[in-house]
Amino acid sequence: MNQSTPSATQTPAAVPSMAEKVQLIDQLCAAARILPVITIERAEHILPLADALSGGGLTTLEVTLRSDLGLAAIELLRKERPHLCVGAGTVLDAATLAQAEAAGAQFVVSPGCTDELLRAAVASPLPLLPGVSSASEIMLAHALGYRRFKLFPAEVCGGVKALKAFAGPFPGIRFCPTGGVNPDNLKSYISQANVMCVGGSWMLNTQWLRAGEWQRIQDATAEAVALFATSL
Ligand code: 3PG
Repeated sequence: MNQSTPSATQTPAAVPSMAEKVQLIDQLCAAARILPVITIERAEHILPLADALSGGGLTTLEVTLRSDLGLAAIELLRKERPHLCVGAGTVLDAATLAQAEAAGAQFVVSPGCTDELLRAAVASPLPLLPGVSSASEIMLAHALGYRRFKLFPAEVCGGVKALKAFAGPFPGIRFCPTGGVNPDNLKSYISQANVMCVGGSWMLNTQWLRAGEWQRIQDATAEAVALFATSL
């Protein structure tokens, strides 16, 4: 049998329409509030880190594929922590998108967009949150049905000023600003009408992570969640 042909027992996953994917992303981002961007350096960090984040109140996680452990982390979390919503980040091309899907990712995020990735994700059952930092990128993705984006790197590409400027020509578009978001600027981001959630890694201090200081990560996560609630 040709390897690409599904066997009689396999049912190909249904592909939602782009409008349905927009709804999925809206639900996911509303539930997430803050999307922690996680890069796994050691396999033994995967479960305690996820537990610290979820213990602090964040149960939607973006696991980047920047490290070799990214896909294994997604697989493990889907199996061992089914209450979490786990996405793959730093998805750069169609091949990586397919790997993320096979690992069980529930959504995918990219730092930017290419025509190849945007088209592959239209045909994928998973919703993609493509990274954009310019009006032209938004227009390219918009033509394929995308309406929700990661603004990246948010602080470098104009931050709140860029979001205000994009609100004019793109009234139906909403963003997850990521890259430089921190407790000092969180309120200014989430008070923008076109922001649906934010992404970031500020609660995942690298030294705490390397030292296995899970309680500190959980406390910082809980503080971030509390700050989000009081900043609305
Ligand atoms: C990302 O890739 O989304 C960023 O690494 C997250 O940005 P931050 O580390 O500045 O929060």
